[in-house]
Amino acid sequence: MNQNIYNFSAGPSVLPKEATKQAAEAILNFANTGVGILEMSHRTPPIENMVAQTDSLLRELLQIPDSYEILFLGGGASLQFSMVPLNLCSSDDTVDYTDTGVWAAKAIKEAKQLAHVNVVSSSKESIYSYIPKDFNQSAKATYLHVTSNNTIYGTQWKTFPKANTYLVSDMSSDILSRKINVSDFGLIYAGAQKNMSCAGVTVVIVRKDILGKTNRIVPTMLQYQTHIEAKSMFNTPPVFPIYVMNRTLNWLQENGGVENIEKINIEKSNLLYEALDQSKLFMGTAAKEDRSTMNVPFVFNKENVSENQIQSLEKDFLNFTTEQGLVQLKGHRSVGGFRASIYNAMPIDGIKALVQALEDFEKKVI
Ligand SMILES: Cc1ncc(COP(=O)(O)O)c(C=O)c1O
Repeated sequence: MNQNIYNFSAGPSVLPKEATKQAAEAILNFANTGVGILEMSHRTPPIENMVAQTDSLLRELLQIPDSYEILFLGGGASLQFSMVPLNLCSSDDTVDYTDTGVWAAKAIKEAKQLAHVNVVSSSKESIYSYIPKDFNQSAKATYLHVTSNNTIYGTQWKTFPKANTYLVSDMSSDILSRKINVSDFGLIYAGAQKNMSCAGVTVVIVRKDILGKTNRIVPTMLQYQTHIEAKSMFNTPPVFPIYVMNRTLNWLQENGGVENIEKINIEKSNLLYEALDQSKLFMGTAAKEDRSTMNVPFVFNKENVSENQIQSLEKDFLNFTTEQGLVQLKGHRSVGGFRASIYNAMPIDGIKALVQALEDFEKKVI
């Protein structure tokens, strides 16, 4: 295929070409062993070294202190919605949660089965179009949970609230997109299939001193301690997704690390938001001050497009963009319209092509 394809999928999503190419090669021959990575035991030196190297790369890129463990687990970020309360609090403890979207609400639902949950703030009444920042924490909460980037609604905590005790954050859709101070968090978790890898592995970064404080019985596979002691090899880990992560982290390191990608992400998202702000046809849906640098939902501006035109115009726009190689722009059903997910691996040329398409389509319609 000669045409450039720009993939705006919300996840699984675009990965660096170099990383996917190296991963494809490893399927046939991993680390010059003559054996493919999919066919190799996890208890062999090449795989053990690769997992250890992935840990070091992530530690370096996010400047993770030695007091934190990094785990590579299965089960997706969704399993962390239960593993977090299971491991960090007892059933009669109180935990604070911010309700900033569907994923935050799912985390709340699971935690409610395992502890007393205090939902300290919510923007549900406005279809989660902003970050509800004003709230009081419970006097005795074990932790405060935030979803750092709300993938569906395109909102992001620009500065994190200060927790009375410690913060727990779901960073599935913006990990490695900006500098963070890991020491501000007790625990960070993230499904890999946006900024880090393909689906199949979930990263947990946990400060060791917050563990071992509950009085509940937790199944062995659900204890962080199990995976800490076994260096993420208690059972067969998702080796291939870890390798894709290894190559993606290597790409990020070679391209100036988190500090540099943060600048690029700001430039990319500004370009797109400026185009949306200038448009008469399109408009962003998230509150300006909370706009995400990773996910940009947008809709037709109803001041200039009549309600009964919208459905057919949406189809036309998706056909128009797809023809130009700009794919996966359909919005999430709860917001409607369109969503451009512009993770680390989306090149700036992809944003420029999208901005051009927005302008060209507008000229055709208005
Ligand atoms: C912020 C956030 N949290 C959690 C999830 C769920 O992740 P998983 O499918 O790995 O369970 C997603 C998926 O898109 C997400 O965007």
